[in-house]
Amino acid sequence: MPTPRLTELPDAVLRLIEKASGPIAGVETVNAGRNSAIAARVRTADRTLFVKGLPLDHPWVWTQKREADVGPYVRNIAPELHWHVEEDGWSLLGFEHIDGGHADFTPGSPDLPAVMATMTRLADVPAPDVDLKTMPHRLRTYVDDPADLSWFTGNRLLHSEWNPHNVLMTDRGALFVDWGWASTGAAWIDPALWLLWLIAHGHTPGQAESEAAAHPAWQDAPPAGLDTLARVQHRLWDSIAGESTDDWAKPMQHAAQAWAEHRNAKP
Ligand SMILES: Nc1ncnc2c1ncn2[C@@H]1O[C@H](COP(=O)(O)OP(=O)(O)O)[C@@H](O)[C@H]1O
Ligand SMILES: [Mg+2]
Repeated sequence: MPTPRLTELPDAVLRLIEKASGPIAGVETVNAGRNSAIAARVRTADRTLFVKGLPLDHPWVWTQKREADVGPYVRNIAPELHWHVEEDGWSLLGFEHIDGGHADFTPGSPDLPAVMATMTRLADVPAPDVDLKTMPHRLRTYVDDPADLSWFTGNRLLHSEWNPHNVLMTDRGALFVDWGWASTGAAWIDPALWLLWLIAHGHTPGQAESEAAAHPAWQDAPPAGLDTLARVQHRLWDSIAGESTDDWAKPMQHAAQAWAEHRNAKP
C-alpha cells in the first residue's frame, strides 16, 4: 500500500533538516513517487536538497537505511546523498536536488538510449558489501517450483523499480533515484524488469525486448530464465493490480500479461 504523502513537514522534521543542513529558506512538497511519507524540495542558504523520509516505526523504514547503504556505490548514476539521520521519530535522507523531469518510456523517446546508458553503467558496479534482498527471495511466492528461482540468482546490484518516476533526465544523462528496493540477482533482470514498463508505455513486447537487448547482460539471459521471469511478473502484477489504486498498476498488469503471452509463458 502506498504511504500517504504529508503536505506539511512536521516541526521535528524541519528541525532535523536544519541541524543537518542549516537554516531552511523554503520547502515545497513533491507529489511523485509512492512510498515516502515525506518527499520535499528544501532550499537552504547555499543549496537545494531533496529530502525523503519515513517515521521510524513505519514497516518500510528499512528501505531508508538500504538507500543510505547503497548510496556510495551508485555515486555516478544517482543523485548524491548528503546525509541520513534517524532521530526524533524520523528517518530522513538528504540528497542533492536534481532539476530534471521523469523519463519518457514511450516508443521512440530520446530518453530510452540515455536510460540504457546509465543502466549499462550500473551493470559495471561491483557487487556491494551491503545486506540486500535477493531476487530469488523477492520472487519466491510466485513460482510453482522453488527450483525455478535459481534462474534469478546472481551477485549483481539491481535497481529493480523501473517506474519512470524513479528516473530523472538531466544534462548529465539519466539518473536513477529510489534505491530502497535495490537487490542482488542475475544482471539481466534489470533490463527485463524495465521492458515491462516500456510495454506499459506503448511498446509491443518485441519492441521492448529490442530496447532491453542493448544491455550488456542481455545476451547472457537464458531464454528459459526470461520465460520464468515473465510468468512470475504476470502473477506478481495480477496480485498488485488486485489491491492497488496506483495508476500504473493496471497498465503494468496488462504489460506483464502481454510479455508472458509473447514468451509463451502463461501462468
Ligand atoms: N534527488 C532528487 N532531486 C529531485 N527530485 C527527486 C530526487 N529524488 C527523488 N525525486 C522526486 O521525488 C519523487 C519521490 O522520490 P522517491 O525516491 O522515488 O521516493 P518514493 O519512495 O516515495 O517513490 C521521485 O519520483 C522524483 O520525482
Ligand atoms: Mg519512487
